[in-house]
Amino acid sequence: MTRKLFVTTALPYANAAFHIGHMMEYIQADIWVRFQRMQRDGDAPREVHFVGADDTHGTPIMIAAEKEGITPQEFVAKIAAGRAQYLDGFHIAFDNWYSTDSPENVELSQGIYRKLRDAGLIQTKTVDRFYDPVKGMFLADRNIKGECPNCHAKDQYGDNCEVCGSAYQPTDLINPYSVFTNATPVLKPSEQYFFKLSDPRCYNFLKEWLNTPGRLQPEMVNKVSEWLGEAGEKLADWDISRDAPYFGIPIPDAPGKYFYVWLDAPVGYLASLKNYFGKKGWDYEAFLKDPSTEQIHFIGKDIVSFHLLFWPAMLKFADHPTIERMRVAVHGHLTVNNEKMSKSRGTGISPLRYLNLGMNPEWLRYYIAFKLNAKVEDLDFTGEDFVARVNSDLIGKYVNIASRCAGFIAKKFDGKLATSLSNNAQEWIKRALVTPEGVERQATIAANYEAREFGKALREIMEIADFANQYVDENKPWILAKDEAKLAELHDVCTTALILFRQLSILLSPVLPGVAANVAKFLNDDKFDWAQTDVASGAVWNAMLGRTIGAYDHLMKRVEPKMIEDLFDNPQAAAAQAAAPAVKAEKPAKAKAAPAVAVTETGIEVMAPEITVDDFFKVDLRIAKIVNCEHVDGSDKLLRLTLDAGEGRHRNVFSGIKSMYQPEDLIGKLTVLVANLAPRKMKFGVSEGMVMAASAADEKANPGIYILNPWPGAEPGMRIR
Ligand code: 2FM
Ligand code: ZN
Repeated sequence: MTRKLFVTTALPYANAAFHIGHMMEYIQADIWVRFQRMQRDGDAPREVHFVGADDTHGTPIMIAAEKEGITPQEFVAKIAAGRAQYLDGFHIAFDNWYSTDSPENVELSQGIYRKLRDAGLIQTKTVDRFYDPVKGMFLADRNIKGECPNCHAKDQYGDNCEVCGSAYQPTDLINPYSVFTNATPVLKPSEQYFFKLSDPRCYNFLKEWLNTPGRLQPEMVNKVSEWLGEAGEKLADWDISRDAPYFGIPIPDAPGKYFYVWLDAPVGYLASLKNYFGKKGWDYEAFLKDPSTEQIHFIGKDIVSFHLLFWPAMLKFADHPTIERMRVAVHGHLTVNNEKMSKSRGTGISPLRYLNLGMNPEWLRYYIAFKLNAKVEDLDFTGEDFVARVNSDLIGKYVNIASRCAGFIAKKFDGKLATSLSNNAQEWIKRALVTPEGVERQATIAANYEAREFGKALREIMEIADFANQYVDENKPWILAKDEAKLAELHDVCTTALILFRQLSILLSPVLPGVAANVAKFLNDDKFDWAQTDVASGAVWNAMLGRTIGAYDHLMKRVEPKMIEDLFDNPQAAAAQAAAPAVKAEKPAKAKAAPAVAVTETGIEVMAPEITVDDFFKVDLRIAKIVNCEHVDGSDKLLRLTLDAGEGRHRNVFSGIKSMYQPEDLIGKLTVLVANLAPRKMKFGVSEGMVMAASAADEKANPGIYILNPWPGAEPGMRIR
C-alpha cells in the first residue's frame, strides 16, 4: 500500500515576520517531508503533501490593521508577501502556502461547526465577558493580561500562561487589564457558543485516541491525560464564539457572532490542502477518505492543548475521515545559549539577517537537525557549538572526501570512474556501510529519520564519513597520483571514495537539499532517492562504475566565527557568547567559591570594613515576587527563579538554594533582590540579579542558606533603604 502523507506545520499568526523559532519548526518538518519524498512503497513513490498557511483571524490583526489605517485583508496580504524569502531562503519546500482568510476555510469551518451542532455538541450560554469600557468592545483573551491564577506570574494573556503552561478563561485572571487602554475590563453579559468538551463522548474518544500506540510522544500522552482527569471531570466546555467587531468567520445562524480564531486556525490546515488539491485538479475528499492517508501536524509545545484536545475532538465529531490516522509531533522551543530568546538582551537571531550575512542556510538546517530528537525537548543554539559542529562535520568530514578525490578523476581519467572495484575497495565500502552485525546503516538511518530522531541519523551518517576519510587517509591518493605505475590504484581509490561520498550525499539530502542537488548534478545523477543507498543489491556502487562525472565545484565554505558575532542583535552579547561558551561559563563562578571567612569570638563572620551611606546606596535592593521557580536540569545547587520586581517585566535569576527549598514552596512569596548587579552569564543562562540570602560563617556547623522574606505590606518594586 502506498503511504499518503498530509503534513503541516503550525500556521503562523499573520501579524509579524518569521522568527528563528518558526524556521526551526519548518526545518524539522521539511527534513521529515524530504525524507518521505525519497521513499517508495513497493514500486510507487510515496505521496506527500506538505502545506502551510497564514493564521489571519482574531483581534490583534484587526487592531494592527486599524492602527495602520488599512483593512485586515490588506494587512495580512503584506505579511504574506514577505513569507517566500524565508521559506525559499532556508529550502522549506511547502507544496502550498495559503490563508485561513479564504473561501475554503469559511466553508470547512462552518461545515465542521454544523456537524458538531447536529451532534449535540454546541451549546449557547450567556456568560459575562470582559469588555473594555474605554474602547467600547469585548476583549479577546489576548487583549487581556493579568496574573496567572495558577502560578501567579504577572502579565499573562487571558487564554494560557506562558510561564506554567496552564490554560484558563480570561475571567480566571487575577487583576486583569485591557492591553489597549489599561482600563480595568468590566464584565458584560453576552450569549456565547460553546463546544461541549465536557460531554462524556469527548472524554471517551480522547482517552482512547491519545493512548493509541505511536500516535503521540509519551510525555504528551501523560500531559494530556492529566488535563483529562480521571473521568473527564477536568474538561471544560470551550467558548468558540466572539462578538463583533471581530476579524473572523461568521458563525452560521448567529448574527454578530464569529468563530474564535483558534476554532478556524487548524481548519486552515484542511483549507490549504483543499486549495492545493483544487489547483492541481485532484480529489480532496477521496484523498482524505483513502485508508492509506496519514495526517501529521508538527507543532510547538506551547499550543498542545489546542491540538490534542479541541482539534481531535472537533474532527472526530465532524466525522473527519483521517482522525484515526492523525498524529501530532510536538517539539520544544529554540533557546539561545540556554535562554529563551529576547531582543532586549540581544540574543535573538533574525533569520533574514542570517541569510543577508551570507550564512549558508544548510549550516543551520544541519545544526538544528543534529540537535533534534523525537522528544519534546528545547533545542539550544550556541554560537561556538554551531561553528564547531558545522565546520567539523560538514567541512572536515563530508565535503573533505570529495575535495580530496574528485580532482584526480577529472585530471587523470577524463572524468570517468573506474569500471570495477578491487576486493579491498569493496571491503571498505561494506565496512563503512554495514555494521559488524550485518545491519545496513542506511536502514537504521531511515528508521531514525522516520522516527524524527534526526540527531541519531546524522551521527550514524558521520560515522560513515569517518570510515570514508580513514580510507582516503590510508590510501593517500595524492601520493598515488605521483606514480604513473599506480594509476589503476588511484582510479580504484578515488572511485571508491566518491561512491561513499555519493552515499553520504543521498543520506544527507533531507537535511542538505541544496548541496545534494549540486552533488547529484556533479555525479550525473538525475535525482537522489533512498533505493540508491541499498548495499545488499549493490545499488550503491553498480550505478557508479564506469560513469562519467562532471567537474567538481567546491560545495560549501566553512563558517567564520566572525559571522556569529554579526548574527546577534547586540554585538556585545554575541562577543560574550563567542568568547565564553556556555559549558565553560560556570567555571569562573566555581573558582570564586566563598573563601573560608574570618570569625569573631562569638562565632559570627567578621564585619566588613565601614562604608558610607553613598556606598550603600550604590546597591539597589528591591522587593521582588517569586512568580515562578523551578529546578535547573543538570544543576544540583541552583533553582531558577522568575522574579517580578515591579518593572513591568520578569527577571531570570539563578540562586544556589536548591538544598533548602522546594520550588513550589517559593512561588508567590516575596523576597529581596540585588537589582542592579551586572547580569552574569552562567551555564544555564543569564542571571539578572541576585537573591539575598543568609548563611553561617561556619558552613559545616550550619550549611543552611536562608532567603529573606519581607513583612506583610511590602510590594514588588519597593526599594530597600
Ligand atoms: O501559535 C500560533 O502561532 C498559532 N497561530 C498557531 C496556529 S496552528 C493551527 F492551528 F493553525
Ligand atoms: Zn502560570
